Amino acid sequence: MTTPHDRARPPDLRALPRLGNALAVLRPWTDDDLPAIAEAAADPYIPLITTVPARYTPEQGATWLQRQSDQAAGGRGCPLAIVSVTSAEVVGMATINAIDWTHRRGNIGYWVLDRHRGNGYAEAAVTLLIDLAAELGLLRLQALVEPGNHASQAVCHACGFVPEGVLRGYQRIGDTHRDMIMFGLVLRPRPE
Ligand SMILES: CC(C)(COP(=O)(O)OP(=O)(O)OC[C@H]1O[C@@H](n2cnc3c(N)ncnc32)[C@H](O)[C@@H]1OP(=O)(O)O)[C@@H](O)C(=O)NCCC(=O)NCCS
Repeated sequence: MTTPHDRARPPDLRALPRLGNALAVLRPWTDDDLPAIAEAAADPYIPLITTVPARYTPEQGATWLQRQSDQAAGGRGCPLAIVSVTSAEVVGMATINAIDWTHRRGNIGYWVLDRHRGNGYAEAAVTLLIDLAAELGLLRLQALVEPGNHASQAVCHACGFVPEGVLRGYQRIGDTHRDMIMFGLVLRPRPE
């Protein structure tokens, strides 16, 4: 993959190199994945912090899938399904979004369906996102995590992210504006 260096030439992120390790594969979403989106929509927290619709309908699920594809086509992000290597089931989502090609940084986001948590999928997926970010020529990844979200903070720590400070009243989640911890990971530039 060629490395873009400015926002005038954002790459089409629908075509990515194969991303996988012993636990998980990351791949683009397909129409067959709607049941996983429906399950995520029923989670008490995932729709609050993502664009997954809180009141799921097949139409809304299809619209969500289309938005993910549009985002990737425009080079703004790479929303990917996390697929279990052992069961071939979709267990969650991992993405680099809000990619800024000028500053070569992006935000990571991830969720794992409740019944698949605690099996290492989030850590495996974020490790793959870090490899992908390096491949894309990004120099910084960041994650915004609520102070009470200990599971997500553990994922960040396990993947080498460092807490850089608390952004007060930063993000609306549900009906309240919450403080968010900024986690950052600085990547080494690859030789040209
Ligand atoms: C956060 C979340 C993605 C973690 O997914 P997961 O697949 O269960 O996480 P993993 O199994 O990969 O665990 C990674 C690390 O977190 C730790 N961890 C997992 N759940 C934890 C919990 N509830 N409390 C503390 N640590 C936890 C694990 O022990 C592991 O650490 P280790 O490598 O030091 O042992 C999942 O809980 C989730 O989807 N939550 C709702 C959505 C969300 O919060 N997304 C992130 C928004 S910032």
